Amino acid sequence: QERSYVMVKPDGVQRGLVGKIISRFERKGFYLKGLKMFNCPEDIAKEHYKDLSSKPFFPDLVEYICSGPVICMIWEGKGVVKSARKLIGATNPLESEPGTIRGDFAVEVGRNVIHGSDSDENGEREIGIWFSSGEGTAEWTPHMEPWLREIGRED
Ligand code: GTP
Ligand code: MG
Repeated sequence: QERSYVMVKPDGVQRGLVGKIISRFERKGFYLKGLKMFNCPEDIAKEHYKDLSSKPFFPDLVEYICSGPVICMIWEGKGVVKSARKLIGATNPLESEPGTIRGDFAVEVGRNVIHGSDSDENGEREIGIWFSSGEGTAEWTPHMEPWLREIGRED
């Protein structure tokens, strides 16, 4: 099954947005397969965002992600990586559409509340980084599947 690594950043936790954010993924029809609160050490933030390490804002980004606890999540379901990015909205919250998480709850790129994996490969890579011990994950079978999806449909 397809999985995305989604994370409420420290500003989202401080601003009390955790429940609202989880609700948006639940109501859409994705399945929560991993969840934990975590004080991110610098090495994990640097590994997670390593593709951005040459950017001028990289030190500020690492400081931001490590500035307070984050909520680490694995969301599962067909199409979840792309759909999560749509639910989250554009990187710069002033450009994000209203109705998206960043569009509704944020005003600037350096405090944009939430992260979502940008590809299937990065999803698995990031789950490996943040859930390396397996702690915070559990196996369960979603019983509402027939009410969300047409069984046997291929598209
Ligand atoms: P993530 O889901 O967090 O990966 O965001 P994204 O995929 O929408 O954007 P990207 O991966 O390009 O950038 C990662 C994060 O770096 C962004 O979410 C911002 O928090 C931060 N960031 C990106 N561009 C800037 C910038 O120009 N200035 C600052 N201060 N932060 C930036
Ligand atoms: Mg990104």
